[in-house]
Amino acid sequence: MTTRYLTGITTSGTPHLGNYVGAIRPAIEASRRGEGDAFFFLADYHALVKCDDPVRVARSRLEIAATWLACGLDPERVTFYRQSDIPEIPELTWMLTCVTAKGLLNRAHAYKAAVDQNTAKGDDPDAAITAGLYMYPVLMAADILAFNGTHVPVGRDQVQHLEMARDVGQRFNHIYGTAWRAAGGQGEPFVLPEVVIEERVATLPGLDGRKMSKSYDNTVPLFEGGAKATRDAIMKIVTDSREPGEPKDPDSSSLFPIHRAFAGDAESRAFRAGLESGMGWGDAKKKLCDRIEQDIAAMRERYDTLMAHPDDIEDALREGAKKARAVATPRLEIMRRTVGLGPLTAAGAKTGRAKKIDKRARIVSFRDNEGFRFRLLGADGEELLLSRAFADPKAAGQASRAFSGDGAADALKPIDASRFVFLQNGETLATSAEFAELIARDAAIERTRAALVSLREATD
Ligand code: TRP
Repeated sequence: MTTRYLTGITTSGTPHLGNYVGAIRPAIEASRRGEGDAFFFLADYHALVKCDDPVRVARSRLEIAATWLACGLDPERVTFYRQSDIPEIPELTWMLTCVTAKGLLNRAHAYKAAVDQNTAKGDDPDAAITAGLYMYPVLMAADILAFNGTHVPVGRDQVQHLEMARDVGQRFNHIYGTAWRAAGGQGEPFVLPEVVIEERVATLPGLDGRKMSKSYDNTVPLFEGGAKATRDAIMKIVTDSREPGEPKDPDSSSLFPIHRAFAGDAESRAFRAGLESGMGWGDAKKKLCDRIEQDIAAMRERYDTLMAHPDDIEDALREGAKKARAVATPRLEIMRRTVGLGPLTAAGAKTGRAKKIDKRARIVSFRDNEGFRFRLLGADGEELLLSRAFADPKAAGQASRAFSGDGAADALKPIDASRFVFLQNGETLATSAEFAELIARDAAIERTRAALVSLREATD
């Protein structure tokens, strides 16, 4: 199983240092280490749960996209897209909703906190709580499970959502595992995702010491407003009234933890020692600003350039959506059949009539210099597999039956990063085209598997 990093940011605000340290930086670092591939996306459907101001949602999408690109995300290496460009996500959300225990959602921290607040005020427990807030964890599970993300870098506050995604995925696997395989899926419908938390930083505290979060209005902006905005915010970090010269408790303020999120171990120890031996809060704030600037100044420049060219960002996102859908579309195709929502013609194929209407995968024989061969074509005419050459047409015809035989869908094996083969008794019967990247290869494997299943259904 390939490692696939996948994470999203809700597009309801302007990126702040907490987003950078907790999500963007670790995700980009992981993608650079090149272990497995990476899917990063703008969670703009999630934004609607938090924000009903269309201007703000739109602006935030732009800012966040520019931020990721400025921070070094390479859209060639990483699949970078907008959630709302992937119709398979809401589609899967519904399928998952129907296997999700309502009680599980009752226990979600965000929902429970809203209920507690209402109760404390003496209001109806569900006052002003939307079904969107309630369903948030299911949408998030679909984000991850649609692509079989295996590793999900998030802040600590999202750990419960990951547990829920695993829970929902597992339940679906349990209910539909057999149906999934019958529909041509391989293994289990969903890989259960693991949460990835950067232990060293976890969640970054904000100006007032609580978690840095837009909802607490205690954030330090990352790029927006320039270096001045970042500095102005840092100057507002709450400290006690100890004078320069007096020893400070580094853990009494957010200054130290924010510094530690940027500095290496030795540097951070020195900063700590400085505070303990009387460095003034003002000096400490200035040091912190300098340390942050050291990391982000060049990125801020790239950010400003990108913000001035939104068309480039739009292009990158559309390309990303294409790549993402190359994975999600064939998966959802199988998923639909898994739950019983496939084309009626799969069953109706036997009548012959539906067969004519329904375009399906087919085998085409031909002859070239080396002998007789056959191809497997997808419903849309795409060449999925090309057989080896046979000396006579009868042998080729015989061999081609393997495509609709028992276990055909399990006979596909990747041979390298760009190709896969159809194996028969351990030998290569047919080979795929060459694909530029792993994601495209895997998507083609899914399409081929679906084609093989539909061939089999047609011959049943
Ligand atoms: N809920 C996440 C947050 O607020 C954002 C998010 C949405 C996400 N879908 C996701 C993160 C899928 C990881 C994977 O931070």
